[in-house]
Amino acid sequence: MNIDVFTLFPQWFDWFSTQRHVRNALEAGTRLQCVNPRDHTPLSGGQVDDTPFGGGAGMVLRVDVFDSALRAHYQLDPVLLREQRRVVALAPAGRLLDDEFVEALAREPALTLLCGRYEGFDERILEHFASDVVSIGRYVLSGGELAAMVLCDAVLRKLPGVLGDERSAAEESFSAALEGDPEYPHYTRPAEYRGWRVPDVLLSGHHQQVERWRRERSRERADGG
Ligand code: 6GU
Repeated sequence: MNIDVFTLFPQWFDWFSTQRHVRNALEAGTRLQCVNPRDHTPLSGGQVDDTPFGGGAGMVLRVDVFDSALRAHYQLDPVLLREQRRVVALAPAGRLLDDEFVEALAREPALTLLCGRYEGFDERILEHFASDVVSIGRYVLSGGELAAMVLCDAVLRKLPGVLGDERSAAEESFSAALEGDPEYPHYTRPAEYRGWRVPDVLLSGHHQQVERWRRERSRERADGG
């Protein structure tokens, strides 16, 4: 998979790219590249944002700057780009990221992520350049960078060969294998600690009983149990 991240803070991704499973993905052929819109701004002094029409606090990322940056990187009118690849803008007002959407993105050969900063994007960026607008929760971060890393983390671990154990991704929280339910509880040694015992069924060696127990706990958690 090819991932391009448009961000004013590309150095934020240096640390991310050194993390084990991200490195695994990169070694398995994924490419993660950052593009700084500031390097492509047509405005003087590296300007990328401006005050909002109608007044109000904060600064808004300019549509002409993102047009230039996307056009320079893809040699294409960015209006046409989203017909070729998913262009996901990270913004708090977007649709909530969930496992189903992550699965869909993991099937794409290429992704473009647009990180917002300051008060946000000029709406025309979202309207004309983005194929999707995504949020990672109902709270406001100071920028889309952390959200983009959350999205990349969730997508990359779906790719084959990225996790050490291929079963890990298939049967985890919210996956189809668990019918969208959260994951069952896990235990490891010691079997008893300070009087806290691991459920007997897990020590029993009865594979079918273990499976049934896990499915039940998973459903219980979904019901808020
Ligand atoms: Cl995608 N961006 C920002 N700035 N804040 C958020 C978010 C995104 N998702 C949740 N909060």
